Formats: sequence, structure tokens, C-alpha cells
Amino acid sequence: MQPLRARRVLLGITAGIAAYKAAELARLLVKDGADVQVVMTRSATQFIGAMTLQAITGRPVRDSLFDAQHEAAMGHIELARWAEVIVIAPATASTLAHLAAGTADDLLTTLCLASTAPLLVAPAMNQAMWAHPATQANIGVLSGRGTQLIGPAVGEQACGDQGAGRMQEPAQIRGAIHDLLMKSGALRGKRVIVTAGPTREAIDPVRFVGNRSSGKMGFAVASALVAQGADVTLVAGPVALPTPGGITRIDVESADDMHDAVFTSLPGAAIFVACAAVADFRPARAAEQKIKKTDETLVVEMIRNPDILSEVSASPARPFCVGFAAETHDVENYARGKLLAKGLDMIAANQVSASQGFEVDDNALLVLWEGGQQRLPMQSKSRLAAQLVELIVDRFNAQTATEDS
Ligand code: C5P
Repeated sequence: MQPLRARRVLLGITAGIAAYKAAELARLLVKDGADVQVVMTRSATQFIGAMTLQAITGRPVRDSLFDAQHEAAMGHIELARWAEVIVIAPATASTLAHLAAGTADDLLTTLCLASTAPLLVAPAMNQAMWAHPATQANIGVLSGRGTQLIGPAVGEQACGDQGAGRMQEPAQIRGAIHDLLMKSGALRGKRVIVTAGPTREAIDPVRFVGNRSSGKMGFAVASALVAQGADVTLVAGPVALPTPGGITRIDVESADDMHDAVFTSLPGAAIFVACAAVADFRPARAAEQKIKKTDETLVVEMIRNPDILSEVSASPARPFCVGFAAETHDVENYARGKLLAKGLDMIAANQVSASQGFEVDDNALLVLWEGGQQRLPMQSKSRLAAQLVELIVDRFNAQTATEDS
């Protein structure tokens, strides 16, 4: 899996001995699938060759505000908007001072000033320079503005000193970039609808037919989508769960209510994830008064409920559709059948039994799509949801890229 597939990372390199490690960082990010644009300060080119970084990233390195050819291809303001995250590794004391002061006297500092993307800095300098009150004050200013800091590490320095000032290792910086991008989100600006929980189909004013579903998986999926920046509407059947932060929740009872809430929210939605355990049938008529137990038997005529997911999938301007399939046996076959029958882009299937799937905190999924599949092993529903959402983002981006080309 390429967790940073098509994510846009602007990698700033400034003049420190650790600049050579930036090549390894660029390599790791490219391996993760990221589009990496390197921007070097002029002095950084004394420490590492631009050709090396160009070969690794497949993009010409930028180092000047006044390069007519590059500016014509993508002007510096465009480049500032292009970046989803800006990482400066290594970041010298001088660069930190410029960033803190807000000066824009070369391409890199200008980009930082012109961009709203999160900024991550990996300081690297002599330990005395790091400890100096001026540097510490600059770090304080930057942290106060939300700049993320990684390192510096403590150890032996190129100049022979011991202390804090070594650039953090590329693998650690890569981890911090992952975290930042997860928070900033691959689904920023996208509307997503999630259904969750059971539905209740009234037999009379006090009794209902329903499904065993706690709603936990759907709520976890909704949270994982929010963590990717999506604008999430959660249509929830009757469940005893608090609303996760950042979500618009619509509470419903029956399949019909859920159907109406989904279709009201549908215009403009990019993704629909149907986690709800919708009752397939409902009583043809709900009695107006409580049914008395006068007879030995009770016959309730049941009629089919609308299949919300199939209808959404068949609607014009349909969103990317993800379904769930809870099966007791032959999971893969049944799930593949549903993927085709409902015209879905992806289906997440799980084996259900008395101890697995419903009303528990852990679960495992087999995720299928046309031409591929992935098993997500048994783990907490929240971790599972995060992995499922990564797959959704992957497939959604791949499909959008195909449609655009
Ligand atoms: O056909 P089955 O109920 O197994 O399909 C499960 C998938 O379809 C789930 O994603 C569920 O949320 C969705 N579904 C629906 N409306 C129904 C029945 C199922 O949206 N009436």
C-alpha cells in the first residue's frame, strides 16, 4: 500500500551537513507514493546536488524566485497552493529566524509565507546555536503559530560537539509527515454520507422488528473519514453512541426514514458508505394501538424495505459507493455477488457469529473491489475503520484520476 499516494509534499532543504539525509527522506516519501517537490536554498546546493534530488523525485528542483522558466511552469504562489504540507529538513538556525520574522527573501521562505499548508521543521545545527536564546525564542514564536517541530536529536555532531542539534532521522520525519497529512486529510472538501446502526420497523407503538447492530463500526468509519478531512453526514439508526466530533448527525428510526435522510443529503456527496444494518422487511401496517396478546399466534405481514444502497448506487451523479456485508459463511462469494448486484465500488465483508461482528469492539474485514481485495486483520473497530478509509481514499482517488483522464 502507498499511504501517501498522490499527496503533495514540498520538501525544503537548507544549508546544513544533514542536507545529505534529505535525499533519503525524499526517497522514503516517493516510495510512499507522495509527489515530492524539492525547494533548496542557494546555500543548500553547496551540501547536496540538485541532480540527486531531481533523480529521486522526478521533478526539477526549485531554488530561485527569479527563474523565468520554472515560474512560467508553476509560479511560486501556485506552488505555495499546491503543497499539502511543507517540510523543511534540515532547517538551519538562520531559516528558523527568517520564518519567525516572516521575511520572504528567497523562494523557500516566500513559499512558507504564501502557503496555508501545515509546516514541519526538522532543525539541524551546532548545539550552542540550538541552545542560544535567540534560536529558542524563534522556536517559541514558530510553535505558537502552529509550526510542528521534529527533533533535534541529541548526540555527536559533525563539528565534534556533543548535544542537541542533530537532525532527526529521515524515518522519524517521514512518520511525522504521515501524521500531519492524516490530520490535514485526503478528503478535504469532500462530502461523505455514512449510514450506521440498525433500523426499527414498527409493529405497533411499542414493538418493532430490528437488527442486531450497535452502530460502532459505522461511527468509527465516520470518525476515520473526518480525520481525513471529509465533511461527514452520519445517518444513524437508534443507537446509544455519542456523536463523534466534527460530524453532522441525523437520527432516524425506520428504513424509510433512513432512505429519506440519505436522499436529502445526497446532492453533492462524493462518497456514500452504507454501514447500517437496515431491516430488509417491515410490517405492511403498523398497528395504531398496542396489540393485545389475546390470540395464540400473531401473523404480521411483512413487505420489502427500499434497498438504500442499491438506489444510491443507481442514482444519477452517483457517489463512490461502499457497502458492508455481514455473512455467516462463504463470505467472499456472497460479498462479491453483492458488489456486482448492487453496482458498488467497494464492499467490506465480515464473518458474523454470536461472538464476532455485531455489538463487539473488535472486528476483521475482507475488502473487495473490482480487480482487487485486501484482508484487514482482527483489531479494534476504530483502527479497522482507519485502514478501511485508507483503502476507500486509494480507490476513490484512482477512480477520480481515471475519470479525469
Ligand atoms: O443485501 P444486504 O443487506 O446484505 O447488503 C448489505 C449492504 O446494503 C450494507 O451496506 C447495507 O447498509 C446496505 N443496505 C441498504 N438498504 C437495505 C439493505 C441493505 O442500504 N434495505
